Amino acid sequence: MNAKPDLSAVPAVPDHLARVFAQYPLPLASAEGVWLHTRDNRRVLDLYGGHAVAALGYGHPGWTRALTEQARACQFQSNAVPMDVRLRAAARLVRFAGLGLDTVFFINSGAEANENALKMAFRMTGRAQVVALEHGFHGRTAAAGAITWGAAQSWYGFPRTPFEVKFISRTDIAAIESAISEQTAAVVVEPVQGVGGAFDVGAAYLAALRARCDATGAVLIFDEVQCGVGRTGYPFAANLYGVTPDMITTAKALGNGFPCAALMMSDRVAAAVQLDALGTTFGAGPLACAAIEAVIEAIESEGLLERVRRVSAYVRKTCIVGPITGHQGAGHLTGLRTTRPAKDIQRELLARNILTGTSGDPHVLRLLSAFILEEQHVDLLRAALLELPK
Ligand SMILES: Cc1ncc(COP(=O)(O)O)c(C=O)c1O
Repeated sequence: MNAKPDLSAVPAVPDHLARVFAQYPLPLASAEGVWLHTRDNRRVLDLYGGHAVAALGYGHPGWTRALTEQARACQFQSNAVPMDVRLRAAARLVRFAGLGLDTVFFINSGAEANENALKMAFRMTGRAQVVALEHGFHGRTAAAGAITWGAAQSWYGFPRTPFEVKFISRTDIAAIESAISEQTAAVVVEPVQGVGGAFDVGAAYLAALRARCDATGAVLIFDEVQCGVGRTGYPFAANLYGVTPDMITTAKALGNGFPCAALMMSDRVAAAVQLDALGTTFGAGPLACAAIEAVIEAIESEGLLERVRRVSAYVRKTCIVGPITGHQGAGHLTGLRTTRPAKDIQRELLARNILTGTSGDPHVLRLLSAFILEEQHVDLLRAALLELPK
């Protein structure tokens, strides 16, 4: 590890930020690999990756080089100006997924990707109802918040939702048939729910959604904002479960921290795209595209899908100890079931210099580790868990 400057003597900056986020006692100075370095000179193992974003860890050389070179070459031009880096990013993403979702619209965030996916589904079907899953999370904008479970009761903030939403159980396959009808424009599902507790809805559930959408003409949208781009150990959860939706939305790991998102469409959806129907200023900017290209290049050239599968299996094999009783989720979207409130265990682990996450399930500790994580890091988690009260 490089020696880091002692920042503890640097005066704190006045805080004018809106009080919207609870914050960890983790004043960050810098980061490297899977390690965070704090202003008070701690070295913290990051098993959360900034809400699943830092997939390549910190300071990845290829990603850093790609952004630097693109910043030098041209930091921005709009979608009205053709650029090779944009074509390369789209081609790379389509090839990486290998799902036949061969048309890409790049935007800036997960919520925006879902917003545009819904717009396409309404346009294609002429219908006005959406089916979403209980415990699902899709973002904070008007449409994405409308399909987010529990948002209306807690933070939604708009006087009404822009369309009708029906929420269905994430476990009851038998309920799918009656919930999805000829009135349904779209069904939106996270194949592995993130905020909902690293909950894997499973291949049979997804296949039942696919079949019912085919029967009714509803459009099937996989929200892979959190579980996509290699996090499950496969390019997308659609690859893992063998079920192909009409659209995939993805973000987070896609840029490894450079804000970007993608809406991937089947030919049927792409046929409904018209000039000017969708739009964005920043989406598909050259820096975002350089980041996307570098992320996929790293995943492929460094064998990171295989590594995610191997190291996440090692977590599941070795970390069911102390206050952990079981696991759920897929790959590095790992839920560890806890005997005690997960937020207490999260706090106790942070006191031992390991950063983890919680979720909507109070008894699930959520790990969103970087794809470069190694077994030796997992051993540190196991050792810390063994120190905690059961
Ligand atoms: C599954 C899922 N969809 C959508 C979003 C929203 O993404 P963003 O915060 O980039 O708008 C999130 C964010 O956590 C998410 O986990």
